[in-house]
Amino acid sequence: MKGVPQDWLRGFGLLFFARTVLSMVIPNSTHLEAILEKYMNKNDEWWVSKQRGKRAITEGDMHLILDLHNKLRGQVYPQASNMEYMVWDTELERSAEHWAHTCLWEHGPQHMLTQIGQNLGAHWGRDRPPTFHVQAWYDEVRDYSYPYPQECNPHCPFRCSGPVCTHYTQMVWATSSHIGCAINVCYNMNVWGMIWTKAVYLVCNYSPPGNWWGHAPYKHGRPCSACPPSYGGGCRDNLCYKENGVQRRPAPELEETNYIEPEPQPEPRAQEPRARPLPPTPSSNDNVERNEVVSTEQMCQQMDCETKLRDRCKGTTCNRYECPPGCLSSPGKVIGTGYYDMQSSVCGAGLHAGIIDDGGGWLDVTRQGRKPHFTKSYKNGIQSVAMNRSANAFNIFTVPVKAVTCETTVARFCPYKKPARHCPRMYCPRNCLHETRARVIGTQWYSDKSSICRAAIHAGVIQNDSGGYLDVQPVDKRRQYSGSYQNGISSESLQNPSGGKAFRVFAVI
Ligand SMILES: *[C@@H]1O[C@H](CO)[C@@H](O)[C@H](O)[C@H]1NC(C)=O
Ligand SMILES: *[C@@H]1O[C@H](CO)[C@@H](O)[C@H](O)[C@H]1NC(C)=O
Ligand SMILES: *[C@@H]1O[C@H](CO)[C@@H](O)[C@H](O)[C@H]1NC(C)=O
Repeated sequence: MKGVPQDWLRGFGLLFFARTVLSMVIPNSTHLEAILEKYMNKNDEWWVSKQRGKRAITEGDMHLILDLHNKLRGQVYPQASNMEYMVWDTELERSAEHWAHTCLWEHGPQHMLTQIGQNLGAHWGRDRPPTFHVQAWYDEVRDYSYPYPQECNPHCPFRCSGPVCTHYTQMVWATSSHIGCAINVCYNMNVWGMIWTKAVYLVCNYSPPGNWWGHAPYKHGRPCSACPPSYGGGCRDNLCYKENGVQRRPAPELEETNYIEPEPQPEPRAQEPRARPLPPTPSSNDNVERNEVVSTEQMCQQMDCETKLRDRCKGTTCNRYECPPGCLSSPGKVIGTGYYDMQSSVCGAGLHAGIIDDGGGWLDVTRQGRKPHFTKSYKNGIQSVAMNRSANAFNIFTVPVKAVTCETTVARFCPYKKPARHCPRMYCPRNCLHETRARVIGTQWYSDKSSICRAAIHAGVIQNDSGGYLDVQPVDKRRQYSGSYQNGISSESLQNPSGGKAFRVFAVI
């Protein structure tokens, strides 16, 4: 019986065969050049063969990765009776290469994910052999409890006491006998919202795929006592082994006879990082598990007393502003009463409307579309002027603050509406890390079914220990949400959601 994939356990609803959550490593940049050299030295074997359209990885790295897999597969505890020897597969290598070249920090391509297993690793900085990632995947074993047959009734439990165990279970999936990996250097790679100028990206594809829900990765028993008949009883280093079956399939030779060496392609143009405030620099922390992320990006824009709304109402975040104290003495020009012309000073209009006082503070702005004329008045110490021309207008509201619980979702609390709406500023309690039933779907952009407070911890906007204030910006739905492990929370992936909207969380500083 074909099971449901393991990630289903974490509620990866729509993906029939969701892949493992990404693994990532953040070393420092000291020895970056060395590893990059290796992949960029145009005289190097890898580069030369790459130019001939052959390899996505050096021969040496291929052996390192493959041998480490077989070594670890042969040494699993409890012992495996049906673990198959892994062989290199150039088709898998090619598909991994194709994906590594997208430089997308997520699993893919989508259409292949039902047919292959996939583990990913990326790092920048310190020179790392690719086996560093392979070992990190394997090390998830410490959180994994092997399900013995007596527990598998009717399905085996999946017990993982850490954030992720599916890299490990894919590596030691008995029937996943083929592997192919590729390494690519990616420029300006977006890793969970952080832009890595140069990242080394490792993609390993496995076939047949593992991580079937309700199944143990392998059978427990005397090594090689339950090998598939096709192995003819062969056994080597505790692995089902067939003399002729393990010849590494050589890369299919291209038609070299008429093959014309192409001009070396210029290095693919790095993707431009999205225009957004610089993300926090990845720390020298190279601990795979912790992956601490801090975000200080604010939705609220800080204004000077005289700044006009027109000059600061850009993009989608033109709704919440912070005014400094002391604007009564220099309020700028204020046009209108009740609603104000876009040329008005935001803080001046805020004072006039009585939303803030001379102590400064926060205010929300809503655009009102065109108004035929604007009237003058003297209010709260501010003289506003009239205007007879029709012009775009805005009005001003206080920023409400609401305390929410760890379970509160944007869908229930403040769903997206067109045009953009204001959500109250929220206050999250402490200790939402413990509310593990409250889902978090996505990274940076979250599905509106996610817990707001847990998404905020995941995004690094608030901390578990203290809770705190945050701003939420509901946005229209997104085609896909990618899961990640950050700040102690493993978020879910979701592709092509059938309904629901999304949101972002922002720091309040
Ligand atoms: C980076 O790593 C190297 C060794 O791998 C170490 O000597 C150096 O101090 C590290 N630099 C920083 C900034 O952590
Ligand atoms: C605005 O227009 C009205 C008539 O349409 C006029 O009476 C008034 O004086 C005008 N005000 C200004 C400030 O131009
Ligand atoms: C989360 O915060 C609570 C309350 O401050 C604390 O008791 C708990 O240990 C924290 N949990 C983690 C995993 O840090």
